[in-house]
Amino acid sequence: MKITVVGAGAVGATCADNIARKELCEELVLLDIKEGISEGKAQDMMQTAALLGFDTKIIGTTNDYSKTAGSDVVVITSGLPRKPGMTREELIGVNAGIVKGVCENILKHSPNTIIIVISNPMDTMTYLALKSTGLPKNKIIGMGGTLDSSRFKYQLSQHLGCSPADLNAVVVGGHGDTTMIPLIRLATWNSVPVTKFLSEAQQKQVVADTMVGGATLTKLIGTSAWYAPGAAGAAMVEAIVRDEKKLFTCCVALDGEYGQKDICLGVPVTIGKNGWEKILDFGLNAEEQAAFNKSADAVRNMNDVLKTL
Ligand code: 2OP
Repeated sequence: MKITVVGAGAVGATCADNIARKELCEELVLLDIKEGISEGKAQDMMQTAALLGFDTKIIGTTNDYSKTAGSDVVVITSGLPRKPGMTREELIGVNAGIVKGVCENILKHSPNTIIIVISNPMDTMTYLALKSTGLPKNKIIGMGGTLDSSRFKYQLSQHLGCSPADLNAVVVGGHGDTTMIPLIRLATWNSVPVTKFLSEAQQKQVVADTMVGGATLTKLIGTSAWYAPGAAGAAMVEAIVRDEKKLFTCCVALDGEYGQKDICLGVPVTIGKNGWEKILDFGLNAEEQAAFNKSADAVRNMNDVLKTL
């Protein structure tokens, strides 16, 4: 098994670190455009192997895509992160060119790979990866909902005083501060609806805090978060590599599911060796479906910007 992470910034390096610690592959390539960064970070990670006890071989390269040849999974994290006060959508001008170039280079050396997209604006970058690679739709997966659902569980756990691991909760729709939809009605604590334990006000607070989860961290840290985004990418890689058929909310191409077509948007999917394998219909109520449609409109407008670049 061979995995490539493109972009050795904080998110890419954290994702690679998680992949290595979990020994998800024999060979892990970390590629970046900036001279020396990926070689240095790869060596730094390799120097933890004796301490942490993993056998994955990590290779860093400055933009040499031939080193990525034959990758089974590629995680794309390239592009600018957002700064405090910026929306993810404002990154489209720069990041679209970067992601398109990365996809072209990856495909030359790994024509059958599965691609996980983390770069922002993630829904539009996933759509761009789908259109520019021409890969089967199951092989293109955007990471956003996996991260947002984990943030949702964190916020719920703070109010419930419970372990996030005991919660089932998903965020569907776009990966934007105003486009994501934390489905609190369907969230459960060990199969009991969380709405049984939280007041209306608490429920509203959890939803609002989840939606600005990334922006809150960007304001605190001064740049985009990386621990949870990197771990979310690695969890998806793990589901593919181990053929887990695990349920994640991911940004995938919709063809009528959830009432939408010709768009990549976050819905519950199973992930296994073929990429995303099955879309689950969670039966949204009228209010949730209206929010999903509104989210789709916003993402579609962003996708239209691609035509002007
Ligand atoms: C975030 O929400 C990186 O978009 C990512 O932190």
